[in-house]
Amino acid sequence: MRLYLTGADGMLGTALTAALREDPSTSDWPVLGVSADDFDIADADAVHRSIDAFRPDVVVHAAANAIVDECEANPELALRVNVTGTQNVAQACRRHRSRLVYLSSDYVFDGARTPPGGYREADAPNPLSVYGRTKLAGERISATVADHLIVRTSWLFGGARERTDNLLATIRQAQRGQRARLVYDQYGCPTYTVDLAHAITYLLTRDEPVTGTVHIASTGSTSWHHAGALALAAFDPDLARTHAPEPVALDDCGLLAGRPRNSSLSSDRLAGIGFPMPSWYDAVHRFAAALADAAAVDAVPVGEEPAGAAPVAAAPVPVPAGAGR
Ligand SMILES: NC(=O)c1ccc[n+]([C@@H]2O[C@H](COP(=O)([O-])OP(=O)(O)OC[C@H]3O[C@@H](n4cnc5c(N)ncnc54)[C@H](OP(=O)(O)O)[C@@H]3O)[C@@H](O)[C@H]2O)c1
Repeated sequence: MRLYLTGADGMLGTALTAALREDPSTSDWPVLGVSADDFDIADADAVHRSIDAFRPDVVVHAAANAIVDECEANPELALRVNVTGTQNVAQACRRHRSRLVYLSSDYVFDGARTPPGGYREADAPNPLSVYGRTKLAGERISATVADHLIVRTSWLFGGARERTDNLLATIRQAQRGQRARLVYDQYGCPTYTVDLAHAITYLLTRDEPVTGTVHIASTGSTSWHHAGALALAAFDPDLARTHAPEPVALDDCGLLAGRPRNSSLSSDRLAGIGFPMPSWYDAVHRFAAALADAAAVDAVPVGEEPAGAAPVAAAPVPVPAGAGR
C-alpha cells in the first residue's frame, strides 16, 4: 500500500509516521510525508504534481491550520489552507482513485447539548468558529471522494511544540518556574497522538475497508486544567506542588473564537470495529512517563544511555497562556 501523508511534521503526522514504521503490517509500505516546507497545500499545481508523481493508494490528509484563534483572526488563511487545500487533495484522490482519510475535529459541534457519552458520528454539526466551519467544509469535500474516511478527533497532545500542545506547555512552563493558565470549565477528550496514530493504522489495515465518519478520541472527558494538573503531577510531583497550573474560566481568556463548552466525542463506533480507545487519564499518564523517561535520558552522559530509553522531546519555546484548542 502506497501511503501519502500531508501535515507530516505536525503533531499527528509525526506520530503516524512512527506508528506506520513500527507496525509490522505497515512497516514495508512506501510512505511519502509532506508538510508546508515542501509546498503550500493551497497550491493546486504543487499538490497535483506531488500526488501524480507518487500515485498513492491512500492519502491521509492531516495538513491544516489548526490554530483556532489564528483562523478566527484570518479567515482567508483558514479558508485557503483548510478548504482550498482539501479541495486540491480530494481532486487528486478522485483522479487517482485513491482512498482519502481526512482529519476533522470535535470543533464541528457546538457543545451546547452534548449527548450523554459524547457526540456520535451521526449527530448534527454546528460549528461556532471559523476553524470549525472550515473543517466541516473539508468533511463535505472529502465525502465527494468515492472511498473516503472522515476521522474526527479532539484535543491532541503528545507533540514537540508547546504552541500546539497544552500538556507539554504546562510541563515546560513549570520547569521554567512559571504556572500555566488552563481552562477549567470547557470539556472534551484529550487524545494522545500516539493512540490516534495507532487507531488510524489499525483502520488502514482492516481487510474490510472502514468508510464514512469515525470518531477517534480518548474515552471519558475532562478539562485542560484537570488534564494539565495530572500530567504535571505524573511528570514531577514536586513541580506539581510548586507550579500547579492556574485554573481560568473560558470566558475570562479573551479568546477570539467561540469554543464548544463540551465537545466530547463517543468513540463507540471505533470500539465496535475492534479498537477500543484508552481513557484520557491513562493516556495523560503514559505521555508524562514518556517525557520523564526522555528527560532522564537527557541527564545521562553520552555513552551511558539506560536501556529502553524513550524518544527525546524537542526543546521548549515560549507559549501564551494555554487555553486549549
Ligand atoms: N491539534 C488538535 O487538538 C486537533 C484536534 C482535532 C482535530 N485536529 C486535526 O488533526 C489534524 C492534524 O492536527 P495537528 O495537531 O497534527 O496539526 P499541527 O501540528 O498544527 O500540524 C499541521 C500540519 O499541517 C501543515 N501545514 C499547515 N499549513 C500548511 C500549508 N499551507 N501547506 C502545507 N502544509 C501545511 C504543517 O506544516 P508545518 O509544520 O511545516 O507548518 C503541519 O505539518 C488537522 O487536520 C487538525 O485540524 C487537530
